[in-house]
Amino acid sequence: MDTLHELQATVAALTAPGKGILAADESSGTIAKRFDAVGLASTGEHRRAYRELLISTPDLGRYISGIILYEETLGQAAADGTPLPQLAARLGIVPGIKVDRGKVALAGAPGDDITEGLDGLAQRLQGYRKQGARFAKWRAVYNVSDELPSRLAIRANAEALARYAAICQAEGIVPIVEPEVLSDGGHTFERCAEVTEAVQHAVFHALYRHRVALEGMLLKPNMIVPGQRHAATSVPAVADATLRVLRRSVPPAVPGVVFLSGGQGPEEATAHLDAMNRSGPLPWRLSFSYGRALQDPVLKAWRGDAAQRATAQAALLKRARLNSAASTGRYDVASEAD
Ligand code: 13P
Repeated sequence: MDTLHELQATVAALTAPGKGILAADESSGTIAKRFDAVGLASTGEHRRAYRELLISTPDLGRYISGIILYEETLGQAAADGTPLPQLAARLGIVPGIKVDRGKVALAGAPGDDITEGLDGLAQRLQGYRKQGARFAKWRAVYNVSDELPSRLAIRANAEALARYAAICQAEGIVPIVEPEVLSDGGHTFERCAEVTEAVQHAVFHALYRHRVALEGMLLKPNMIVPGQRHAATSVPAVADATLRVLRRSVPPAVPGVVFLSGGQGPEEATAHLDAMNRSGPLPWRLSFSYGRALQDPVLKAWRGDAAQRATAQAALLKRARLNSAASTGRYDVASEAD
């Protein structure tokens, strides 16, 4: 199989109808924050047990096509010794890996950030591939104000995302390209739309310059929502604005768009995805790659207590099932009560 065919086979598995991606790739700092919120210390064993709980949820493969892991998890094993990526693959879930090294301040652009991690990436990917990873994720973040992000930040992050994507494809790994316009702050809905459109245009220009095959990648964008300190807006408004920006920026050659949840509540994130998928035929498959919107109810149920494992897994399966329904425009809010 040549490389593009291999990439497309992975993309086809990840975009299987009625399925989405579970983002479980929180860095050590982020997972410590999530655990802390439920009163749990972030030890290696807690992290391992939690990720095993997620991956071994019975029937998860019915709704989840891929799971994004953190580097540490890729090397961890279930209690019975099965490496966690193998456990996922056995359940029909493609293992993926977050490969960026996080954000730092962008020199010369006060208030903006740039994501690092390109040095040595090809070699790292060869190792991750041996461990079972077939796709990767790189997240660029954009802070929003009246002035931010600067043109420099938009360009620099687009360039890094495109270099990452090109390197992944050369190694037979499907890149998930994640430009996240953050919802922290008091900015308006319109400002989010304006920034997201500028960011996505820059990203697709850079992908073109770097010869990235759009058929062999997925886009992981934010939805168009107002800043978290701004008044909320309606579900149809979010769906309409998000689709308008995507239609203006994302070529139809891109097979799938898998949204991040970005601080939306679990039910809100499901309702937004559903509304978009009800709006008629779209050029790309629209699904989810949620972290918090899938995991928050799971962590609240588990809290490190082995006796709550089944309840926590049921909470994950429920959110996966409802988001699966939303990915085909068949979510019924009444089923939240099931
Ligand atoms: P959230 O859905 O919690 O935003 O996480 C998705 C993700 O992978 C962020 O990089």
